[in-house]
Parts: sequence; C-alpha cells; structure tokens
Amino acid sequence: MKRESEAVAIDPVLQTKGLSVWYGAHQALKDVDLGIGVNRITAIIGPSGCGKSTLLRCFNRMNDLFPPIRYDGSILFHGQDALAPSTDLVALRRRVGMVFQRANPFPMSIFQNVAYGPRLQGIGNRRRLEEIVESALRRAALWEEVKDRLNRSALGLSGGQQQRLCIARALAVEPEVLLLDEPASALDPTATAKIEDLVLEIKSSVSVAIVTHNMQQAARVSDETAFMLNGKLIEEGPTRALFTSPRERLTEDYITGRFG
Ligand SMILES: Nc1ncnc2c1ncn2[C@@H]1O[C@H](COP(=O)(O)OP(=O)(O)OP(=O)(O)O)[C@@H](O)[C@H]1O
Ligand SMILES: [Mg+2]
Repeated sequence: MKRESEAVAIDPVLQTKGLSVWYGAHQALKDVDLGIGVNRITAIIGPSGCGKSTLLRCFNRMNDLFPPIRYDGSILFHGQDALAPSTDLVALRRRVGMVFQRANPFPMSIFQNVAYGPRLQGIGNRRRLEEIVESALRRAALWEEVKDRLNRSALGLSGGQQQRLCIARALAVEPEVLLLDEPASALDPTATAKIEDLVLEIKSSVSVAIVTHNMQQAARVSDETAFMLNGKLIEEGPTRALFTSPRERLTEDYITGRFG
C-alpha cells in the first residue's frame, strides 16, 4: 500500500520545483518544492510574513498582479509549466480558483454573484444558470440559508455567509483546485466550523490548498501540511505525522508555540 506522502509525490495536480519569488529586490520564496495532491487538502502554515500567501498565489499566477515580480524555478499544473509565456492566465485561474481572507462579494445579488463566472464563460440560459447557482450554493453549504432571497444583495449576508458565498462563486466555474487564503480567520467558531465542514465535503471533487494561522484548523481539515519559515519550506508531509513527530527542530518549535 502507498503511504500518504508517496501518493502526493506521485500525483500532484500542482507542484512547485525550486521555486523562488522576488517582489522587486525582496525575496519572498526561496527554493520551494511542494506538491498539491489530487483530491486532497494541503494546509500551509507558518508565522506572519513567511510567504504563505505568496506561495498560494503562485499556483494561479495571482502574484503577477503585484509587479515587479520575478520567478525562478517552476510551477507545474498537470505537469505543464504554468510560468511559460504561452500560459493562458484566464484559463489557469478558472481551473485554479481562489478565495481570500476577507470575503469580497460583488455589490450585486446573491444569484448574480454566483452566476458571474458562468455568465462570463458564455452561459446565458436562465434555467442552466439556476441549476449552476443552486449546485454551487449547496456545495458551499449556503443554499438552505439563502434560497428564499437569491435576488437580495450579497452585502446583506453575515460575514460567514459572505465567505461561503465567495466559495460558491469560486466553485460555480468548476475549478479543479481551490486556493483558500485564511478563509476563516475573520469568523467566529460556528462560522469557522461551517467552512471547515464544507472544505472536507468538496474535497471529493476539488483539490484544496488552505493557508491558515490556526494549527488546530490545519490538524482538523488537512491531509498534508507544509510548514514555512522566512520564505523557505521547512517541512511537509502527512498532517498527523508533521504534528506528532516532526522531522525538523524548527517545525517542532513552531507547533509547540515557541515562536510565531
Ligand atoms: N505585493 C507585495 N509586494 C511586495 N512585497 C510583498 C507583497 N506581498 C507580500 N510581500 C512580502 O513578501 C513576504 C511574504 O509575504 P506573504 O504575504 O506571502 O506572507 P504570509 O505568510 O502570507 O503572511 P501573513 O500570515 O501575515 O498573511 C513579506 O515580507 C511581505 O512583506
Ligand atoms: Mg498571508
């Protein structure tokens, strides 16, 4: 039988190899090798400023929005070089979706938020859009709470509901990978639990990379965990092993609360 860590090494949907990233003169990532396993949840942990968001944003080239940015090494999506000049960034970001720390619903109705991506893709049929919106809202565990007010403004939802709406909006275009950057850090424990539950639900159909400051959250939801420090990937492996018997002293110091 394959060990968990081997499964990821063999079949990652996304993978960085020797990846370094500079914002101008500042190097934010240093020689990072990390795979995101298919239909698995990979948590990225580490202290503030260590490069977690930068690494996450590499996977769909969102860092390109912060020039001057320079990459060295490679980012492979299904084995293809995502840094190649020929990469279609719109297509990449449709297949590798992202949800941010602060919920950012568009100032439009709940329905329009979720239908936004599919409409951009050219789906105009109302019946089809209704099906897509319902399905995405169900996957994001929000349908029951909003089904009677789909035409009301998304800005009237609670913070936790807004964050699940953003997840529904991301899921509506059927991404293969979902990147979540501290999606629950602004939420109370009940809203956080709903996000964690839905992440565990969707992993049957989506591969997930989740950045979190919260080690309990990483331990609860993820299959693999990657620990970063000062732009370097210090250690990654099956979550249970990393938290119970880390290989590196730095990992042990971090998870036992000695710094960060
Ligand atoms: N757009 C940017 N332009 C310039 N420097 C940036 C930019 N984004 C991040 N950095 C720098 O890169 C380093 C890594 O930042 P990053 O946001 O990836 O860290 P993080 O681990 O996500 O931190 P946090 O936990 O606080 O969100 C930091 O030194 C940060 O100041
Ligand atoms: Mg961050």
